[in-house]
Amino acid sequence: MPDRIRLDGRVAVVTGAAGVIGTATMQLLAERGAHIVAVDRKQRELQTAIQDLPASARAVAIAADVTREDEVADYVRAALDSFGSIDVFYNNAGIEGDIAPITRYSLETFRRVLDVNVVGVFLGLKHVLPVMLKRGKGSIINTASIAGLIGSPDIAVYSASKHAVIGLTKSAALECTATGVRVNCVCPGMIDSRMLSAIIDGRNPGNAPVPSDKIVERIPGRRLGHASEVASIVAFLASDEASYVSGSAYTVDGGRTAG
Ligand SMILES: NC(=O)c1ccc[n+]([C@@H]2O[C@H](COP(=O)([O-])OP(=O)(O)OC[C@H]3O[C@@H](n4cnc5c(N)ncnc54)[C@H](O)[C@@H]3O)[C@@H](O)[C@H]2O)c1
Repeated sequence: MPDRIRLDGRVAVVTGAAGVIGTATMQLLAERGAHIVAVDRKQRELQTAIQDLPASARAVAIAADVTREDEVADYVRAALDSFGSIDVFYNNAGIEGDIAPITRYSLETFRRVLDVNVVGVFLGLKHVLPVMLKRGKGSIINTASIAGLIGSPDIAVYSASKHAVIGLTKSAALECTATGVRVNCVCPGMIDSRMLSAIIDGRNPGNAPVPSDKIVERIPGRRLGHASEVASIVAFLASDEASYVSGSAYTVDGGRTAG
């Protein structure tokens, strides 16, 4: 019997691949046998990230800005030129924006956050879906956030953008009805990462660092999550183990949004 969690020979495109969650996910997808197309706007960090992939992995790095339609079309074309198909698309690039209340939030940053987190995800869907629909199979996983499920002070724009990612995910899943293409999203909670530190520090400017027990006191699991724990859910959703899962928003948050 084939091992349904394996991804041998599948082609996985990962955006935001130079970041903490993108790198951890790309690593796990490669360990499970996938060929990797790593996409990020940070070229140097991207090269470093793909160097750490298992020696057996076939991988290409494509520098692209996910907000630019021509560059999105380019990374899709590069994936097809390199490997001939796209089986898995981890649509993950995102930014936190400023950490400030709405009354002090600049319109320019508002537009930038929506551009990366919503337009970037939309363009990825727009250009990858036709490839998968033509073949009648594929799995897309978008990165939302628990901030896409609940409100979050000082990151209202980020929260709005992630609510939009969940809306895009569910609508895309419905547009793929009876095609063999599945679309889901993952909603990470507080993951030990640069982005989380930026948000915590941004909420306490100029103050002493917030003690870790204070940070985790509202998480039933009483600890931060690891990028590898997000990767595990993405790799599951990418695989045939998730063959009946579409339109879902999976929380990876130690129970933070359960109450
Ligand atoms: N870290 C967390 O606690 C957390 C929690 C919930 C959701 N998320 C989401 O997970 C995803 C990954 O976050 P992370 O923690 O790895 O952050 P990160 O900052 O480490 O990684 C994000 C990556 O996206 C890339 N990127 C940003 N804008 C881009 C653009 N226009 N074009 C191409 N690449 C671009 C960055 O260069 C970076 O490498 C994001 O969508 C984020 O919103 C993170």
